[in-house]
Amino acid sequence: MARSYKVGVLKGDGVGPEIVEATIDLLNALDLEISYVELEAGYNYYRKTGRSIEEDFFDKVREVDAILKGPLYTPPDNREFKSVNILIRRELDLYANVRPFRSFENVSLKNFNIVLIRENTEDVYVGIEGRYREEAISLRIITGEGSRRIARYAFNYAVERGFRRVTVVHKANILKETDGLFRETFYAVSREYPNIIADELIVDTAAYSIVKNPERIEMLLAPNLYGDILADLLAGMVGSLGLCGSAQIGDRIALFEPVHGVALDIAGRGIANPIGEILSAKMMLEYLGRRYSDDKLVKLSERIEEAVHIVVGRKKIWTPDLGGTSSTKDVAKAIEHSLKELENVF
Ligand code: NAI
Repeated sequence: MARSYKVGVLKGDGVGPEIVEATIDLLNALDLEISYVELEAGYNYYRKTGRSIEEDFFDKVREVDAILKGPLYTPPDNREFKSVNILIRRELDLYANVRPFRSFENVSLKNFNIVLIRENTEDVYVGIEGRYREEAISLRIITGEGSRRIARYAFNYAVERGFRRVTVVHKANILKETDGLFRETFYAVSREYPNIIADELIVDTAAYSIVKNPERIEMLLAPNLYGDILADLLAGMVGSLGLCGSAQIGDRIALFEPVHGVALDIAGRGIANPIGEILSAKMMLEYLGRRYSDDKLVKLSERIEEAVHIVVGRKKIWTPDLGGTSSTKDVAKAIEHSLKELENVF
């Protein structure tokens, strides 16, 4: 009998609830054994309850196989309210942030298929900062252990998915200790993977190469902050932040969310592009399928990606970020139809 799965759902702030609901409707239309547990956290939750995250959040998470999440708002001017995203990442030790950026026909300017692996727990995101009068400092922490496990994750990912090259991104010419350690560790780990080419790009050159010759890049491995910034550059190359999904993986559990933020400028209008969330759900099915040797889920995840590319490539049902007039729900429905057409072919 097929295994059944339990997924925690955190709808999030801003456009989060709209795109998460459209994605769950799509999953519900497929023949899947998934039940959902609603999780509560974020800025809206804080405004309602005075807490940024529900008390038994992590107890509930212990019961689920994966988390599907919308974006969460962290107001920059409220010093009391700390990022819930970072809290969740740290608490669940979600150390690998995986962001595939594949170009779309009729949308992206160039042809490419790049996977960015971002270290997700260290670097300046440890949040140790201080200010004395007119001087502010921030600690940047990079450890050998953290660098080793993310490098291993990247090389294993390359082996499993048939990539031939992993490129480490750094600024070790200036930051000889922090980036130096990240880079050295990458090359030390690369010796365990003789069939994968290991090379490097200085972060500024990486930005240039992503715009100029993205077709030459396969996989990028970056420390936390560079990874964060390069992800938005890559999303721009794809054509919209609304088209990109991501996974945050730990040894015990993984969380899936779109690359974009809460998009307050369009929230509540039903016009957010749901594709980033749908591609995140696609990555979740692939993760569950690989983890539990469930081929059906892996195949379905491939078809979801194909259906998304068919719908976007047709240029008919586009949300406004792509220049169209369709709604969040129209796009999710179109993907559902395209998926059903593909299922009939197989
Ligand atoms: P944003 O991604 O929310 O918006 C940037 C631009 O992209 C806006 O014009 C927005 O309308 C557009 N956009 C984003 N997602 C879209 C979608 N699905 N469909 C159509 N258009 C879309 O970035 P911004 O404004 O820098 O971030 C706002 C807040 O979001 C941040 O202050 C932060 O608190 C939060 N954020 C949360 C993240 C998470 O929970 N993982 C990630 C990034 C930001």
